[in-house]
Amino acid sequence: MTNHIELGGAFTLPGTSMTISRMGYGAMQLAGPQVWGPPRDVDGAIAVLRAVVDAGVNHIDTSDFYGPHITNRIIRRALHPYRDGLVVVTKVGARRGEDKSWLHALSRRELIDAVHDNLRNLGLDALDVVNLRVGGMMAPSDGSIEEPLTVLAELKSKGLIRHLGLSNVSPAQLAEGESITGIVCVQNMYNVAQRSDDHFIDGLASRGIAYVPFFPLGGFTPLQSDALDAAAASLQVAPMQVALAWLLQRSPNIVLIPGTSSMVHLRENLNSAALRLPAEIVARLDAIGGTSHPESRISHL
Ligand SMILES: NC(=O)c1ccc[n+]([C@@H]2O[C@H](COP(=O)([O-])OP(=O)(O)OC[C@H]3O[C@@H](n4cnc5c(N)ncnc54)[C@H](OP(=O)(O)O)[C@@H]3O)[C@@H](O)[C@H]2O)c1
Repeated sequence: MTNHIELGGAFTLPGTSMTISRMGYGAMQLAGPQVWGPPRDVDGAIAVLRAVVDAGVNHIDTSDFYGPHITNRIIRRALHPYRDGLVVVTKVGARRGEDKSWLHALSRRELIDAVHDNLRNLGLDALDVVNLRVGGMMAPSDGSIEEPLTVLAELKSKGLIRHLGLSNVSPAQLAEGESITGIVCVQNMYNVAQRSDDHFIDGLASRGIAYVPFFPLGGFTPLQSDALDAAAASLQVAPMQVALAWLLQRSPNIVLIPGTSSMVHLRENLNSAALRLPAEIVARLDAIGGTSHPESRISHL
């Protein structure tokens, strides 16, 4: 079994006893095309999940709106009863339209139903971490999160949720959230080419809150960059490995959930945690996003 050192080290979610491998796994790619319906190869999806935990990864990110319901049921089929220490993080706040669109689902009823859907489909009595997802498809939008977060805080006090996080939020929304309940993680879009959250990440790092970038590899259109390709060629690794290693080196509170349905890609992604990027390559990669803050970079080279 791979240990935590080879998985980028470990991160303890603040105020919890949950220590997770910094290299985690995002389960969204396990549903069918457009995150809808079952995958072509269910046995392959199950094999990927089992390889994830066999490698020592103890952090899986999911949602019941992947499929919908499909991804969580595959996780349950592959991994239930869950190993001690496995942290399954889910998210609520969205639903899928019949046309496969992604819609808000932030009413009290929708949030309560979503938590129960996650509990049932994952086969759990309590959810480890639930992210409240607000905002647009890619980025936060202004507005109070008090009403939906209060609903989740109530479910937490009833014991259905252990810890809460936020997804697609601004620093102001985090501050509002923290006035309502403890927040252990923020999940926003960020990668080597999309760096709007640079300052946010540094602020969260100083307070020990996990930052979990979604689309770490660019999402539905994986990253394409000459600088990434050149770095990968010089290190004799794959470009996506460089992109993940860059994130791990960016800040110690960054925890990764790259998504894949491929065993080959899974191995590549896991192995990227052992990659150490030299400073000159990091500098060239920093230029891709264009908003680098080298003074705040924390390197563990
Ligand atoms: N909070 C939110 O709003 C939100 C939004 C989106 C996603 N998420 C979460 O974030 C996780 C990660 O996001 P994501 O899966 O959408 O995007 P991602 O991790 O940035 O990229 C996934 C894409 O990259 C490909 N890929 C993965 N590893 C690769 C490799 N080594 N080489 C080449 N291609 C590779 C995958 O295809 P293959 O399957 O062919 O490998 C897939 O097309 C999701 O699983 C989900 O849990 C959250």
